[in-house]
Amino acid sequence: MEKNKFLWGSATASYQCEGAWNEDGKGLSIWDVFSHESEKNINNVTGDVSADNYHLYEEDFKMMKESNQNSYRFSVSWPRIIPDGDGEVNQKGIDFYNRLIDSMIANGQTPMLTLYHWDLPEALQKKGGWLNYDTAIAFARYAKICFNAFGDRVKLWITFNEPYYSLSSMYAVGNYPPHEHNYDHFILAGYIQMYASALATIEFRKCNDIGKIGIVADLHPCYPSNTEVGMDYAMEMANNCLNYWVLDPAFKGEFPQKLVDKLAETHDLSFMKKEHKEIFKQGVLDICGINYYTRAYIHQYTEGESYIGSNNKGIRKVKTRPLSVFKGLFEEIEDKNGVFTDWDMEIYPKGMRDICLTVTNRYGTIPIYITENGLGEYESLENNTVHDQKRIKFLKAHIDELIKAKNEGADIRGYYVWSTFDLYSWVNGYKKRYGLVYTDFEHGNKRYPKDSYYWYKDFIETYQKEEEK
Ligand code: BG6
Repeated sequence: MEKNKFLWGSATASYQCEGAWNEDGKGLSIWDVFSHESEKNINNVTGDVSADNYHLYEEDFKMMKESNQNSYRFSVSWPRIIPDGDGEVNQKGIDFYNRLIDSMIANGQTPMLTLYHWDLPEALQKKGGWLNYDTAIAFARYAKICFNAFGDRVKLWITFNEPYYSLSSMYAVGNYPPHEHNYDHFILAGYIQMYASALATIEFRKCNDIGKIGIVADLHPCYPSNTEVGMDYAMEMANNCLNYWVLDPAFKGEFPQKLVDKLAETHDLSFMKKEHKEIFKQGVLDICGINYYTRAYIHQYTEGESYIGSNNKGIRKVKTRPLSVFKGLFEEIEDKNGVFTDWDMEIYPKGMRDICLTVTNRYGTIPIYITENGLGEYESLENNTVHDQKRIKFLKAHIDELIKAKNEGADIRGYYVWSTFDLYSWVNGYKKRYGLVYTDFEHGNKRYPKDSYYWYKDFIETYQKEEEK
């Protein structure tokens, strides 16, 4: 990796972009099963082919190079490497990622490898998935296999992508498989996934010279919606639930005690064993990946049971109830003056600066990478391109805030646009597009650079010229 050069790249994830769902010995993931079988697959599409990056990666990396990008964040599909999650290794899976990594490096991209971006092997889900400690042990074994196979070329590693968001979708919102509304399971899965991250990190430390390891957290800078009594408590608990439940074990080696004590009043936390404490301490990570999309606007808890809302329909509606309720703790509401996307994401660039500084103040100057930031929109081709001026405005505003945070002391080393090209947007299907490059899913996945692709290219060139001065 080139020293001191800021990484300007873009990101994808295996199930969302690869396709080739049953090629070369790959096993099933929970998303293969969901997209083929579940009635909850409201958009009725699958990732079977997706953007076909499994076959088109060379073209994608050439386009990245031509737009001056110098880093690619991608994820490895666990069931491609170990089809049943904890059994035999599929050499063809290893071979694919070797080709992928070699090609990205040949095209000037520093690899950032995420070990888990939600495509859990179905065979492990059948045994309880993230509710079963054996999954954590299987994950550490899978991680070790990847460290040994790719560690000679990959120097930036991520254990998990967005534990909070993915597990809340699986066990609280219930819009991701296994579609539960069970807060006991949500808490347990969060603990086991952070335990798995620590176990994998312990394996990482046994390897020689394979770089740095971190976690990617979806962070939600919290802002008070009023100054009435109870706001300090609501803000503290919102930060604990939305941000520190992942960041504290990742960078301090322990969970936020005040939240643990509060949860213990209503949940059985006997799965948190004394003997795990040492594992969490040893599993502290090196680098912090931040996915920043939107902020959290906090209100005091008023009434009712816990729930977390979601909008996978892409139809904007004014809310008649809070976006989420954490019983006894806080609520998230919409700011009436906010600007929102069709999927109810508030566009709030200042949050980028604030969250980077919050991380720096709480954990010291750890290296930060903005591992995802981007705008999801309905888009169509116009004269072989997309005039995505809204996205350009979004990216520019967020990067301006990032640079402010950097100048104010946050050790930010890289920034990745979500996403390199249009891809499968989970339950939202294919209509919600984030790419710098348009993917024509209907016609052989042909790629068309959008206006934002050219804007990013020029922006990076100007930045790099300044950097060299
Ligand atoms: C992040 C994920 O939550 O946001 C990505 O890491 C995801 O995988 C992205 O695609 C955008 O979310 P969505 O649901 O709009 O695709």
